[in-house]
Amino acid sequence: MNARTVSRSADHPIEDFFTARWSPRAFTAETVSEPELLGLLEAARWAPSGLNAQPWRFVYSFRGEVEFDAILASLWTGNQVWAKNAAALIAVAAKTTLIPPGADKEIVNPSYGFDAGAAWGYFAIQAHLNGWSSHAMGGFDAERAAEAIAMPDGYAMQVVIAVGKRASAETLPEVLRNRETPSPRRPITESAFRGKFAFLADTDGYQP
Ligand SMILES: Cc1cc2nc3c(=O)[nH]c(=O)nc-3n(C[C@H](O)[C@H](O)[C@H](O)COP(=O)(O)O)c2cc1C
Repeated sequence: MNARTVSRSADHPIEDFFTARWSPRAFTAETVSEPELLGLLEAARWAPSGLNAQPWRFVYSFRGEVEFDAILASLWTGNQVWAKNAAALIAVAAKTTLIPPGADKEIVNPSYGFDAGAAWGYFAIQAHLNGWSSHAMGGFDAERAAEAIAMPDGYAMQVVIAVGKRASAETLPEVLRNRETPSPRRPITESAFRGKFAFLADTDGYQP
């Protein structure tokens, strides 16, 4: 299946914004204001989480700031080449422990990654609805990123999010140009099973 020719249509009816949102790498020089960015983070704030622990933390900075450069430098080179043009970078960290109700000591929060992921999903949808593009990156040096944001002990770096206004693919280095397109999804029948897990082969669908 060629990513350039696949349809990005849903197998079942859903709101258009789910399929219209995607993760570009080409960003214009447009800046994002702090109130606008906080408007996107506000959506993330309302994500559900285990025990309502809200383990997500967001450390944001804007292009041109030293903090932006520090988090940019923690990214893998392949991400730096395009993420440097983002209007803002957001490091997403998650608190790894919590004190359950009625307990007196901290335990590992089993859902910290799941919950931070839900917050990212809310963020990405709100960004799309507000006319912004966002692109999550797991490709970074975790130690360097943690240092860049002065992350305390007890937290784990999750992703760095690039936010900006989408630009034409032509603005990207040639090697990235043909990847600048919405990606497909495997059919829902290969992800959702009634009753029991169906062991289907070849369902990873790696097409970033
Ligand atoms: C946890 C996570 C890590 C990712 N890491 C990277 C990355 O390091 N570099 C990159 O270019 N894209 C990265 N992506 C983007 C995914 O490749 C992209 O979301 C996926 O291919 C689906 O495409 P879409 O978001 O355009 O629908 C990451 C996404 C997630 C959620």
